[in-house]
Amino acid sequence: MIEEQVNGQEKADQTLPDHVFEDRRLFLKQTMAFAGFTLAPVSFLTATPDDIPIGDHERVKLSVTINGQKRRLSIDPRMTTLDLLREKLTLTGTKKGCDLGQCGACTILIDGQRTLSCLSLAIMQHGKKITTVESLSEHGNLHPMQQAFIKHDGFQCGYCTPGQLMSAIACIREGCAGSDDEIREYMSGNLCRCGAYPNIVNAISDIKNRGQKV
Ligand code: FES
Ligand code: FES
Repeated sequence: MIEEQVNGQEKADQTLPDHVFEDRRLFLKQTMAFAGFTLAPVSFLTATPDDIPIGDHERVKLSVTINGQKRRLSIDPRMTTLDLLREKLTLTGTKKGCDLGQCGACTILIDGQRTLSCLSLAIMQHGKKITTVESLSEHGNLHPMQQAFIKHDGFQCGYCTPGQLMSAIACIREGCAGSDDEIREYMSGNLCRCGAYPNIVNAISDIKNRGQKV
């Protein structure tokens, strides 16, 4: 039966005109070429002579002002702002808590806006101004917010304090310290495992009520 079918097909093929055979050969060639293409290794398909290797040694230029000092740096484009500050510039006042954008320990000011440095790439700060906790005290005198935190016992272990201070300063500058509730709301991104929250609110409220410039 099968033999008949095969023979029948051969007979049928023999009755076909030449251009049909040519079309069939072309179709088979194209199909095989496509199969080879889809089975080729990914590296073969994506590699071009102009490809730029992405690796540990690639660096990009970054020009940034940190605590009033202009810096020109050559960095790994994957580096976070937090790692740049702590690991490369030894500005370890800014703390790494969760490294996930959840605790606020890494809060710094970028162009005056509070920013979670663990969630922002350093290269994004090109041409910007970064302010960290290291810049708060001047000539050996603590910043008014630092003094208020001491006065009101706004910390225990102190790990969250640099982030709390930067957020507290931004909170007043943003005009969001009108009441204790408002302070709590706008400081809610800064966690304190020691539970110093009431004292932190008191410190910020004290500075606000005395109209001190921060
Ligand atoms: S370390 Fe950045 S939010 Fe926790
Ligand atoms: S003072 Fe310890 S975590 Fe806030």
